[in-house]
Amino acid sequence: MGKIILTGDRPTGRLHLGHYVGSLRRRVELQNSGEFERIFIMIADAQALTDNADNPEKVRQNIVEVALDYLSAGLDPARSTLFIQSQVPELCELAFYYMNLVTVQRLQRNPTVKAEITLRGFAEGAAEGDTTQRQGIPVGFFTYPISQASDITAFKATTVPAGEDQEPMIEQTREIVHKFNSVYGQTLVEPEILLPDNAACMRLPGTDGKAKMSKSLGNCIYLSDTAEEVRKKVMGMYTDPDHLRVEDPGKVEGNTVFTYLDAFCLPEHFGRYLPEYASLDELKAHYRRGGLGDVKVKRLLIAVLNETLDPIRARRREYENRIGEVYEILRAGSEKARATAAETLREVRRAMKIDYFDDRELIEEQARHYAAKGE
Ligand code: TRP
Repeated sequence: MGKIILTGDRPTGRLHLGHYVGSLRRRVELQNSGEFERIFIMIADAQALTDNADNPEKVRQNIVEVALDYLSAGLDPARSTLFIQSQVPELCELAFYYMNLVTVQRLQRNPTVKAEITLRGFAEGAAEGDTTQRQGIPVGFFTYPISQASDITAFKATTVPAGEDQEPMIEQTREIVHKFNSVYGQTLVEPEILLPDNAACMRLPGTDGKAKMSKSLGNCIYLSDTAEEVRKKVMGMYTDPDHLRVEDPGKVEGNTVFTYLDAFCLPEHFGRYLPEYASLDELKAHYRRGGLGDVKVKRLLIAVLNETLDPIRARRREYENRIGEVYEILRAGSEKARATAAETLREVRRAMKIDYFDDRELIEEQARHYAAKGE
């Protein structure tokens, strides 16, 4: 069997550079490598609703935003199936059966879920009058790792290109697969995560230098930002707070501008934008020695980012003028995804012995049994 990709994103906002270097850029490369038999890219609206139950309009609006980000980044509907999670109800059915194979205690240990519970203010026992804490943890949110295992296994995915924060989900999926196969017989495929191959891409910091690019922190550069927005955001970016004068030696580690260069800069960019340096290492060495100002490094980053984003912007404009077609791509993709998931579900039902009406042998056996009783 060939290799199969499944991955996706929650439609809670436009995708940003963190998504791009963390997973999206790699998906496009994998798509174009021809190494994969099938590729499924999912807009995880049902998962987005697990912590946005009271805001369906946000999820609905962001479906087309995420689809535009996918298409403009280079995902090609002829080679990758783009679909919407909620339109494949087989995924819910599968999750319902997996729930029997996972304990509450195991879910409570999932580090991503744990971190998100704190982040979302779902923590229990909020002090009275503290309106910042929501009341308790929604069951659907708590169990979303199980639903994610369904997303992956319904397509028999071998490979999940995703960021580091998804590692606990893939681990939990592998456990579910292992358990399912050992209880019901070999049916499902254990997936592997494909992480970004460099530290800067693994966790791209926000423009403020904070650990993660995140909409709620207001520190994002979006794929759909204009060249002018990118310029402004880079000019305001966090660098080395102790690098006050150009002559001062500067720190490269923890300096956001250099982290972004690690994620985006290619050797050929120097020839185009900063020919007095041969490589990023040379530029870093100069910064460390002193005598290199932040503005010069920022100008390089602006050029590199805008060169990366220009073709993405151009494709986005094309698709923005054909929104009906974008929805049609998602509709056709969802139909195709549904057919694949339905096939896996047939195998799952057979393995779980709940395929009563397709089981001729069962019916005949029962008929014999009850006939013998009457004799
Ligand atoms: N949890 C992922 C995110 O927050 C989205 C997602 C849902 C996903 N199902 C998936 C990712 C399956 C990979 C595989 O971005």
